[in-house]
Amino acid sequence: MNRKSKLSFEHRFVGGDRAGDGLTLLLLHGTGGDESDLIPLGQTLAPGAALLSPRGRVLENGMPRFFRRLAEGIFDQHDLKVQTDALVQFTESSSQAYEIRPDRIVAVGYSNGANIASSVLLAHPKVFAAAVLFRPMVPFIPANTPNLERVNVLVAAGRSDRIVSSQETQRLVQLFENAGATVTTVWHNGGHELGQDDVDAATNWLTDWRARLLSAAG
Ligand code: MLT
Repeated sequence: MNRKSKLSFEHRFVGGDRAGDGLTLLLLHGTGGDESDLIPLGQTLAPGAALLSPRGRVLENGMPRFFRRLAEGIFDQHDLKVQTDALVQFTESSSQAYEIRPDRIVAVGYSNGANIASSVLLAHPKVFAAAVLFRPMVPFIPANTPNLERVNVLVAAGRSDRIVSSQETQRLVQLFENAGATVTTVWHNGGHELGQDDVDAATNWLTDWRARLLSAAG
């Protein structure tokens, strides 16, 4: 068995090219999605970046998710922790197996995928250099404030999202800011679904962030 076949999530990996500046996007789908869903989005957001796209390991009525929930918006905290740790382990093992730069991993998550990305940020603050979170919620309140001082986060919320209220969005932004993260919030003119305005805002934000990263790296 080689190192790749031992990785603990079903996944797709698309290698990057020179234009990708050593960046890898960790693509995290929403409930009912799979490892192919966000590949086109990743190619749009950061052309040339490598793409690592796992499939959530929990099934809810046959629909893949990244952790169990007890009801809409009520998360099984034990399973959230187990699955958060497993995703971190997968990301670290994949870095070795695919020779990914561990300091240039950017999480891109939608809905349930954004929630597990937020959970990784709060529980393992060194794993992501940046995160693009579409329609995230507060996954849990950490007992100790993590140090996210080097981390940039884009939160893309929906003005009329019936799953994530604007207060919930503000609570999450506050949590990240209290931890020292640099957070940008953009508001989609609609609900929980992704719009072209989200994609444009995230592409522009990532382009700016990459430019800053490269100029700091010299
Ligand atoms: C979740 O369960 O993570 C959120 O309610 C988002 C969703 O998947 O609907």
